[in-house]
Amino acid sequence: MESTLSPELAEHLTSAKARIEVATSLDDLRAIERDFTDKGGVIAGLLAAIPTLPPAERRDAGQGANKLKGAVLELLEAARGGLAQAGIDAAREGRGFDPTLPGTEAPRGSLHPVTLVTRELEDIFSSMGYQILDGPEVELDTYNFERLNIPADHPARDMHDTFWCEVSGAERDSDVGILLRTHTSCVQVRAMEKLQPPFRVVAPGRVFRQETLDASHEHTFHQMEGLVVGEGLTVGHLIGTMKTFLREVFRREIEVRLRPGYFPFVEPGFELDARCPFCETEGAGCSVCKQSGWVELCPCGMVHPRVLTLSGIDPEKYTGFAFGLGLSRLVMLRYQIDDIRHLMGGDARFLSQF
Ligand code: FA5
Repeated sequence: MESTLSPELAEHLTSAKARIEVATSLDDLRAIERDFTDKGGVIAGLLAAIPTLPPAERRDAGQGANKLKGAVLELLEAARGGLAQAGIDAAREGRGFDPTLPGTEAPRGSLHPVTLVTRELEDIFSSMGYQILDGPEVELDTYNFERLNIPADHPARDMHDTFWCEVSGAERDSDVGILLRTHTSCVQVRAMEKLQPPFRVVAPGRVFRQETLDASHEHTFHQMEGLVVGEGLTVGHLIGTMKTFLREVFRREIEVRLRPGYFPFVEPGFELDARCPFCETEGAGCSVCKQSGWVELCPCGMVHPRVLTLSGIDPEKYTGFAFGLGLSRLVMLRYQIDDIRHLMGGDARFLSQF
């Protein structure tokens, strides 16, 4: 390996080898790894210097730094194996093994912030008499669109950049109508199919859209659908429910406002905004609410009579309201996370903070 490294990198490798050879504990090895691979370590220094090099040398410099990193990590891995074996041998021979010492603690995972908030919301809605429902992530067009009053060629379909499942032999995948659900509203249809009114349900889950990604847009994100169907339900019940739920989540009264919003499956439809929970006292605006003092939280509305009819529920007798909470965005608000891409990025350094 040294032969393929530049003299400067080979020197770093030799120094790593020398330190690893005399290491006698896992802590020693961890310190060496930190010196080489952490922020501010040798490798980071080499990578940071690349922009200062002439363009023709940059590629080799980058590859060299990565090779050095790989070589040091390999040596560390082998040394860890060696230490473990030495410990086992010593224990077998009854040398140097003290059974009264505490063991090494196994690393433990933690719950994902989306799971934490989902469970909290499930508790809140269960205490309000809601059932928790689940639905498939691979859905049929009929549940995701048709029975929500979004027939083929309806312009509202353009609002959802859909991932269609590939089906061999089909001229267009969308003709077959199997898709990754673009919202949790399909569980509304499944609920109406399964339950007799009156009922209240919430359905948290993952949804998928072919989006251009940025700090507040992911292709895979979470929503929580709510649907209540019964006799005599009005917009007043919808607002009351939203305020109760926000009070539980933020543990204080949160002011809300409704703006008109268009969704083919509700009429009237609204966008519900909450007074920004981070700057409401100062009223000055902050980066979370983009200086507006309000955060868009939850589209909602009264279930369209046609949606009830399509699922065999008599709209003359029953009314309903529905909401589609942007769960990922609520998680961001709750933990002041500034970029939604952290949520599904899988970086253990981020996840271990929860
Ligand atoms: C819907 O998905 C409707 N099904 C919501 C609904 C339910 C309306 C019931 C009426 C009655 P919309 O496309 O606006 O609506 O998405 C709902 C929420 O999901 C948004 O307010 C936002 O918080 C979140 N959201 C939408 N797209 C993304 C994305 N790419 N990344 C993260 N969150 C998103």
